[in-house]
Amino acid sequence: MEEIEKKLKMLDPARLPGHVAIIMDGNGRWARKRAMERSDGHAEGVNSVNRITRFSSDLGIKYLTLYAFSTENWNRPQAEVDTLMHLIGWTIRQETPELKANNVKIHILGETDRLPKEVRESLLQGVRETENCTGLNLLLCLSYSSRWELTQAARRIATQVKNGETSVDDICEQTICDTLSTASIPDPDLLIRTGGEQRISNFLLWQIAYSELYFTDILWPDFDNNAYLDALIDYQGRERRFGKTSDQVKSSI
Ligand code: FPP
Repeated sequence: MEEIEKKLKMLDPARLPGHVAIIMDGNGRWARKRAMERSDGHAEGVNSVNRITRFSSDLGIKYLTLYAFSTENWNRPQAEVDTLMHLIGWTIRQETPELKANNVKIHILGETDRLPKEVRESLLQGVRETENCTGLNLLLCLSYSSRWELTQAARRIATQVKNGETSVDDICEQTICDTLSTASIPDPDLLIRTGGEQRISNFLLWQIAYSELYFTDILWPDFDNNAYLDALIDYQGRERRFGKTSDQVKSSI
């Protein structure tokens, strides 16, 4: 606890990332280390989801995006897919009242048509119940992959051109931003990946163009507030240049 207090004092509340995105990796290894089932690792991972969501909200972070189930995760053994779907549906039903009480607004990103009907309905219910919340925006990526999202965007823009709603010459970066599932949501400032791997795994490829990347060996179920504070402190120690020189950045402060 003392350590948390110490780290909280090191944080500059004015320079917190507005948007944190997380690749939650390591549930399976966490379970294997304890001779438990992978599903136990996912269940413990849900506790981390709840903890990090609550802490992000308490810190005043505006957007938290969690990569909960990728398009590629459909290729896992059916029993594991079923467990994950069950856990996701159960968690959202269980947690929606507290999320709402904490003013957290739920958003879902991904190909939701592929989710089992009861999971989809629980998620939509959570989205509806929290639609007027104005605190933390919790973006859950489910059956999501960046290439899927960019393909959808390309199709939508091509359809708009075909229908005469826009012209090829009018397509610009903003057109693409506005056509992604994250339209109107600022790009992540900080992307965290737990579990020791250093890759992006088809997550928000367009949106992380200038995000700060933070990789930690800590497995997702062990990722606690202390570890989260380490990532935030590390982020605050970085100089974000967005293609400019260090001198230019310093003279604009
Ligand atoms: C990666 O660990 C984790 C996942 C594929 C699933 C993450 C999902 C949750 C924590 C539940 C989310 C629930 C809600 C409601 C958002 P892994 O299984 O790939 O771990 P490994 O690399 O150690 O095998």
